[in-house]
Amino acid sequence: MKILAFESTCDETAVAVVEDGRKILTDQIFSQAKLHAVYGGVVPEIASRCHVESISILAQRAIEAAGIRREEIDAVAVSYAPGLIGAVLVGVNFAKSCALALNVPLIPVHHIRGHIAANYLAYPELEPPFLCLAISGGNTLLVDVKDYTEMRILGATRDDAAGECFDKTARVLGLPYPGGKPIDDLSRGGDDARYVFPIAHVAGNPYDMSFSGLKTAVINLVHNAQQKGEEIDRAGLAASFTKAVSDSLVPRTIAAAKELGYDQVVVAGGVAANSRIRADFQKAAEDNHLKLFVPPLRLCGDNGAMIGAQAYYEYLAGARAGSDLNAYATMEL
Ligand code: KG4
Repeated sequence: MKILAFESTCDETAVAVVEDGRKILTDQIFSQAKLHAVYGGVVPEIASRCHVESISILAQRAIEAAGIRREEIDAVAVSYAPGLIGAVLVGVNFAKSCALALNVPLIPVHHIRGHIAANYLAYPELEPPFLCLAISGGNTLLVDVKDYTEMRILGATRDDAAGECFDKTARVLGLPYPGGKPIDDLSRGGDDARYVFPIAHVAGNPYDMSFSGLKTAVINLVHNAQQKGEEIDRAGLAASFTKAVSDSLVPRTIAAAKELGYDQVVVAGGVAANSRIRADFQKAAEDNHLKLFVPPLRLCGDNGAMIGAQAYYEYLAGARAGSDLNAYATMEL
């Protein structure tokens, strides 16, 4: 089954064709990051307008690159929540029109479910159940993935997402947006014990997380140093900050997997590209005899292929959207 899949929830316009949920025939991505970089973050209206300009060109290109005729498309899928509402609307409306024109079913896909499914594309042997940590620019969730379409949230950030914390830390250090990769690069060779940052423990649920205290601690440290005219060890700060994020994520994920009796741990989302977090997960998985699945770098960030992968399983479970499908800024997993 060939699915034409659309992703436009933030600042990537992406169109893919995926076969049977596991094989990428093409994955076309246009990142708007450079457009937003001058503002230090995503400007929603610019994102929406850019999606409008690029989505039909990308769709055309995707069909050509997949080497298929339009008649061979069996279904259309779209990431319809959560995200920047104006941006999501562009993908939803375009996908609806495609499904109508091609006379094929329309499959709605939750963006975070898509991130999780990116792992199915990279690892043919991976099947639920497993424990998943989804870490992106807007979400940080610990998810019990019981089956392809049956999931339960065990814990979540109570405030900022992990990715947002990377972006704000980069910003205060004068690094470009999106800040995850520049912080990752800067932290290499830095002393992770140079600064001590707080790791939040949230009352009520051991699997809930909080990153706003860490973000504030970094901002205060940098501003205080600037006011006093003191030099900051930038690499040390990036390394210490990343260690604090990783120490907040990795032990919780491993503990949750063990509590549920799972032997498979999956990491998903843009922040899963972080080299320190990947290495810490690798070591923790080995120490605890768990199988670890982390997407290759190209599938960590937003892409259309992950939406096509999850759409296949949503389709098998009976999910169909009508021509009244809407876009949503927030939505339960
Ligand atoms: O999953 P994603 O592409 O978009 C959302 O669905 O939100 O995640 C984007 C986030 C950004 O905050 C970006 O700074 C972060 O992923 N990111 C990283 C790295 N690469 C991207 N964070 C830490 N280390 C990285 N190497």
